[in-house]
Amino acid sequence: MKLTEQIQTADWKKEKHVPVIEAPDQVKPDEIFRVTVTLGKEMAHPNKTEHHIRWITLYYQEEGAKYPRQAAHMEFSAHGESIEGPDKGPLYTHHEATATLKISKSGTLYALAYCNIHGLWQSEKSIAVS
Ligand SMILES: [Fe+2]
Repeated sequence: MKLTEQIQTADWKKEKHVPVIEAPDQVKPDEIFRVTVTLGKEMAHPNKTEHHIRWITLYYQEEGAKYPRQAAHMEFSAHGESIEGPDKGPLYTHHEATATLKISKSGTLYALAYCNIHGLWQSEKSIAVS
């Protein structure tokens, strides 16, 4: 089986693992804008030592391009680990991050999220330049 066949997708309102991409539908050429990617917006995903979102990578593929480009990689490093044991530590990184981008051509943003228990999940959002 190919790894790509293991990338899951679903309606983010019903499935807590699907990344939610918040970005404008339309931007001006080279206008700086924010893209926030989070997860579990309707149904919270756990953030515990034994079960958490480890990273989200954001890609952009302009219309007509053969390959996607990596725009940002957001690593969520702390999940309550401690010398006293799992979930005894004081620090948890929440699985939400914002990238600041500018684009010159219309295309599609893709987010790929990794849960340490439930694998890879993707979502996408079109964005127009005009
Ligand atoms: Fe999970």
